[in-house]
Amino acid sequence: MTAKVITWLDERLGLTTIYDTVLDRKVPKVNWWFTLGSASLFLFVLQGVTGLFLTVYYVPSPDKAYDSIQYIMTGVTFGWLIRGIHHWGATLMVIIVFVHMLRTFFMGAYKYPREITWVTGVILLLATLGMGFTGYLLPWNQRAFWATTVGTEIPATAPLIGDFLLRVLRGGGDLSGVTLARFFSVHIWFLPVVLIGLVSVHMYLVVKLGISSMPKGEEQANPGEMD
Ligand code: HEM
Repeated sequence: MTAKVITWLDERLGLTTIYDTVLDRKVPKVNWWFTLGSASLFLFVLQGVTGLFLTVYYVPSPDKAYDSIQYIMTGVTFGWLIRGIHHWGATLMVIIVFVHMLRTFFMGAYKYPREITWVTGVILLLATLGMGFTGYLLPWNQRAFWATTVGTEIPATAPLIGDFLLRVLRGGGDLSGVTLARFFSVHIWFLPVVLIGLVSVHMYLVVKLGISSMPKGEEQANPGEMD
């Protein structure tokens, strides 16, 4: 019965072709460093799923944000777990994405024909950092408030446009409920849209171009130049 359903769906959706292209493709002999992109993808999905659950109880207003987090931690069944995973997952994702970038850099994986994979990756790193920055304010505790006060003062030191940047980020001269509202909006709408779009392009390119192989040693790569 199950086999019949799968064959029926396969004929109409081309499931076998998708499976063969995405999951059963040939990869060169590589090592554990090559798994960090997949680890980034896993963390991205994990952050998305736990983040969705957090929005059920989180309230992005100055008088409710802090209490709503306290409620998630103590009143909601497994709320502490969902928030804990989201909180630590954020730090882990920044680290893993960064080390993934270092791997592709030091192994020269950004070279032809993977330049666009690299460029989408750079924007993905910036978007990931942006998620960390905007998410940090959301608990609306003392640390979040003052860290964001300092964080938004940094671009304010830019010549000419500094004050403009500060006002765009804070939604006014000071940190307020407006800042919280726009950080929340950027955290759950703007940046996720950018991330989903770019991760899709990034993954399409990884499947289309195939994974790069391990760089060869100097003597193997250019045997003539060694003697
Ligand atoms: C949300 C962030 C990211 C996700 C989910 C992601 C995911 C992936 C995955 C699954 C792969 C294939 C497996 C691997 O090589 O590890 C890959 C490859 C690649 N990524 Fe990323 N990546 C991200 C960020 C970045 C960043 C920040 C850069 C560089 C600035 C980058 C550059 C590349 C390159 C050049 C490849 C091709 C590697 C090769 O062919 O050997 N990625 N990425």
